[in-house]
Amino acid sequence: MGRLADRALPLPLRNYMQGGADDETTMRRNSAAFDDWLLAQHILVDVSAVDPGTELIGFPSALPLMLSPTGMSQLFHAAGESAVARAAKRAQLPYGLSTMATTSIEAVAETGAMRYFQLYFFRDRGLTKALLERAAAYGYGALCLTTDTTVAGNRERDLRSGMVMPPRFTLGSMMSFAAHPRWLLGTLRNRAFQLANVVGYVDEIGRSGTSVIDYVNKQFDRSATWRDLEWLRAQWGGKLVVKGASSPADCLQAVECGADAIMVSNHGGRQLDGTGAPIDYLPAIRNSIQNRAQLIVDGGVRRGTHVLKAIALGADGCSIGRPYLYGLAAGGEAGVERVLAIFRAEIERDMALMGRTRVRDITAADIAHLSRHRVAELS
Ligand code: FNR
Repeated sequence: MGRLADRALPLPLRNYMQGGADDETTMRRNSAAFDDWLLAQHILVDVSAVDPGTELIGFPSALPLMLSPTGMSQLFHAAGESAVARAAKRAQLPYGLSTMATTSIEAVAETGAMRYFQLYFFRDRGLTKALLERAAAYGYGALCLTTDTTVAGNRERDLRSGMVMPPRFTLGSMMSFAAHPRWLLGTLRNRAFQLANVVGYVDEIGRSGTSVIDYVNKQFDRSATWRDLEWLRAQWGGKLVVKGASSPADCLQAVECGADAIMVSNHGGRQLDGTGAPIDYLPAIRNSIQNRAQLIVDGGVRRGTHVLKAIALGADGCSIGRPYLYGLAAGGEAGVERVLAIFRAEIERDMALMGRTRVRDITAADIAHLSRHRVAELS
């Protein structure tokens, strides 16, 4: 799927989707860290009926998997966020709509998907409040506050390719855009490209070719604190999810402020480079918050076994960003569906191979850190 997406996308967009911050060490670690953990296999268990269903952030989910919010999906395919939401609906998985989406809260609600809305605190608190009210009015069951984007991450691939919104046909990128006529046609036909949820408030992107970095740095409220999370809790009646935490103390404080779930996340390695992978922090976080909130591992999840490892380490489920964007770029709605079907097949197969038929039966007894095995071998 990655190769198909590569072929479909002009280079600046490929870089925007696939890249991370600085040296991309955190981005790489997000997936690699799963290799440090070994799954246990239980033999001679009746696995004729495997049920990977569970409840995630208040939704009955067919898998312990949800779709993370990603901005500007119409960059990757003209069908954009609605196509992703429809595919998520068919797979019965929760879908997160980004504040920075190119499809509106109202239009995505029409898909009927299980949906949550992702919020950034804007300097304009009136805009923040208006977004909350629209999300509540249009049946978004949960609100997800992203906390790791106080300032824009240093994405050097984007700096090199001059990534601006909407994509500008600079000399440097012209060759790559010209070499992708299917993408070009889709984009030219789609004249409605805009940040659909903030249009009318801060519609700088689309008018002037502002860089994403400039936009974030100008519009997002970097003065927000725990008090603002408490304010949000008071405003929002549904489930509240805090996205972007990795320290056990922060997660505990988020729970104290009323968070129902935490997405342990570093924004897919696109913000602070040098932090560990979500999975590195998960056991300590679960230990810190006990069972007071759900934990979702977000970042680097590429395999069914990654999901099962996260659950064994105390997660309630996982969330994916780039994997479904690859599907979207490669084949629109059908491409996203295919990605989700692959995850489903892998999770079901791997549960059967582990000898576990229900998500809640996967526990700490099903996983061990590689180093423990090495020590055991030596002694
Ligand atoms: C993101 N992510 C993101 N997160 C968020 O809270 N709001 C947003 O608007 C975006 N936008 C966005 C765009 C693109 C192109 C990517 C790749 C990611 C981060 C996203 O929600 C999630 O945390 C990561 O994608 C998870 O890592 P993986 O699955 O991509 O490795």
